[in-house]
Amino acid sequence: MKNEVEYNGLKFEPYITKEKISARVAELAEQISKDYDGKDPLFLCVLTGAFPFASDLFRAVDIDAEISFIRLQSYQGMSSTGVVKQVLGLGEEIKGRHVVVVEDIIDTGHTMHNLLATIKEGGAADIKIATLLFKPTALRRPIKPDYVGFEIPTKFIIGYGLDIDGKARNLQDIYVLKEEV
Ligand code: IMP
Ligand code: MG
Repeated sequence: MKNEVEYNGLKFEPYITKEKISARVAELAEQISKDYDGKDPLFLCVLTGAFPFASDLFRAVDIDAEISFIRLQSYQGMSSTGVVKQVLGLGEEIKGRHVVVVEDIIDTGHTMHNLLATIKEGGAADIKIATLLFKPTALRRPIKPDYVGFEIPTKFIIGYGLDIDGKARNLQDIYVLKEEV
């Protein structure tokens, strides 16, 4: 792991190592395997950021499970909530299914709030949320993730799927923006 990485002229330092991530993913997978034994859950990976987490989590569960992908497209909405997200590619496949939404991070919760509404409309039997990272102090919507990898303070992080302007998703460890001193 590097001591420091730089993107867009900003410096980031190590925050969560890949070893810690994989240990935690294994724990979440064990819990999900217990909770969904015999239920054939549908993992719904929220692209793009959640793909490394979803890939590791999905392969670590040892029950029958399926995976599908949705993509959120952000656009500037007119509402006071700021950025609104559109869901692309959510088909018939969720009807009657036990859905596990797999996200990289929940920050304000606006994204998840909109997504949950759409999944409910799609007729899922039940919905749970698995997120690698959760910033409870940034939350602006009543979202309660069921499986949380790490609770973190309101800081900007990158790596393991999380990006800065599309970059840094391929870092294996998670890095945090350095506070300027
Ligand atoms: P929310 O709608 O505010 O919960 O934000 C969700 C989305 O914002 C996430 O899916 C990420 O794409 C992005 N995001 C939030 N916090 C971070 C961060 O610390 N680093 C990189 N992306 C983030
Ligand atoms: Mg995301």
